[in-house]
Amino acid sequence: MEFSQGLISAAYIVAALLFIFSLSGLSKQQTAETGNWYGIVGMAIALIATIADPRVDNVWIIFVTMVIGALIGLRLAKQVEMTQMPELVAILHSFVGLAAVLVGYNSYFEMDHSPLATLTDSQQMATNIHLVEVFLGVFIGAVTFTGSVVAFGKLRGIINSAALMLPHRHKLNLAAGVVSLLLMISFVEQGGGNSLLYIMTIIALVFGWHLVASIGGADMPVVVSMLNSYSGWAAAAAGFMLSNDLLIVTGALVGSSGAILSYIMCKAMNRSFISVIAGGFGTDVVIDNDTDYGEHVETNAAAVADMLKNAKSVIITPGYGMAVAQAQYPVYELTQALKGHGVDVRFAIHPVAGRLPGHMNVLLAEAKVPYDIVLGMEEINDDFPETDVVLVIGANDTVNPAAAEDPSSPIAGMPVLEVWHAKNVVVFKRSMNMGYAGVQNPLFFKDNTQMLFGDAKDSVEEIFKAL
Ligand code: TAP
Repeated sequence: MEFSQGLISAAYIVAALLFIFSLSGLSKQQTAETGNWYGIVGMAIALIATIADPRVDNVWIIFVTMVIGALIGLRLAKQVEMTQMPELVAILHSFVGLAAVLVGYNSYFEMDHSPLATLTDSQQMATNIHLVEVFLGVFIGAVTFTGSVVAFGKLRGIINSAALMLPHRHKLNLAAGVVSLLLMISFVEQGGGNSLLYIMTIIALVFGWHLVASIGGADMPVVVSMLNSYSGWAAAAAGFMLSNDLLIVTGALVGSSGAILSYIMCKAMNRSFISVIAGGFGTDVVIDNDTDYGEHVETNAAAVADMLKNAKSVIITPGYGMAVAQAQYPVYELTQALKGHGVDVRFAIHPVAGRLPGHMNVLLAEAKVPYDIVLGMEEINDDFPETDVVLVIGANDTVNPAAAEDPSSPIAGMPVLEVWHAKNVVVFKRSMNMGYAGVQNPLFFKDNTQMLFGDAKDSVEEIFKAL
């Protein structure tokens, strides 16, 4: 089956519109499922229209590859735990980067390499534009590829999550950028050049690696969304090289929405957008975990149940540990039980709690917690002083007072949920280990804090029984 060019363009426009509806749907929990469907239908239309293009031969190779890819994708998506989602997203971004590099090389080797002097002015102009597309596409793709591989390693814990602090690292980044620019000028002036392309690819691969390696701990969420943005621009560059309008539009949508998300997350974390995308510029901090904060106090499920029975207002601040323990279901039951006792229960969600944007919202929605008692940090942060009990369930960095009180802390300046202002705080975790950013949490040693050790799900269930 082959479509006419007009039909393909029409299908691309419909697909592009569906992608925009999809993004709009995904921006609210209530409409997220519909948003997903728009995306699925848009992608199906895009794939069919692309394969049915008369310029596409060897359709069977595409089908075989798609079946293999779909089987791997299905298997991975079924197996992956919610907590491993950011790793999956990071590795998928690396594929987009790699694809852009391959498309770039293919497009370069396929193009007409007649000497520039033998071309007409308009042919020269077209060649120059194509060479810039190839160069930029390969550059962005290579940076996205290695950057995403490092992000994957850091999120999976196979690469140290602390920031790599090479001496003169900003100068190295700047040099990589300047040398690549000079190489591009020479590449275009000479009408191409294999070695120039190879050298730039190596520089871009190392640059991408270094860029993400030098961003550490609590800034990782911004990196993931920034790589999301880069992967969009890499796809858009591939779209230019392949003269595929839909790929350009889709890439630009992903690129710009990723950039907007990175900006919003930077604002939420009080980080400079430019400093994060420039590889952690200005983050010369030393982690000092030797300060003696005193002793912590332990409690047990029965005592917490008593405290909750006597409370009028309770705020639950969930974090990554709730996701690991899959404690959202018992947390919902506990919430219902407390409401039954006339206690006002609400949830406080930090923008980077967990390991992916909206992680906690998704988990709570999955457990059927009503949206109206789930509040964002800015909406609820002033209410802690009037709160009787705060249950910190598997959160750590997002409730760390050092962010507000210790200017030398690596997370200094990041707004956090100020739970320590409440009358009582109970922290659910398994040990005194640190959170993702690898910094000690003085909250655990405050007079109004008690530690409830154990798996979060078991602890919540025990409290529920005791109630
Ligand atoms: P974290 O600081 O990651 O701390 C999670 C805590 O959960 C740990 O202290 C851990 O302590 C505890 N825990 C783990 N498994 C548990 C279990 N089964 N039962 C009970 N507790 C358990 O959590 P957070 O406050 O949500 O902060 C998120 C961090 O991740 C931030 O630094 C953020 O920047 C970073 N990050 C976020 C994202 C996004 S987009 N949200 C992406 C990448 C990184 P124990 O080991 O002692 O139990």
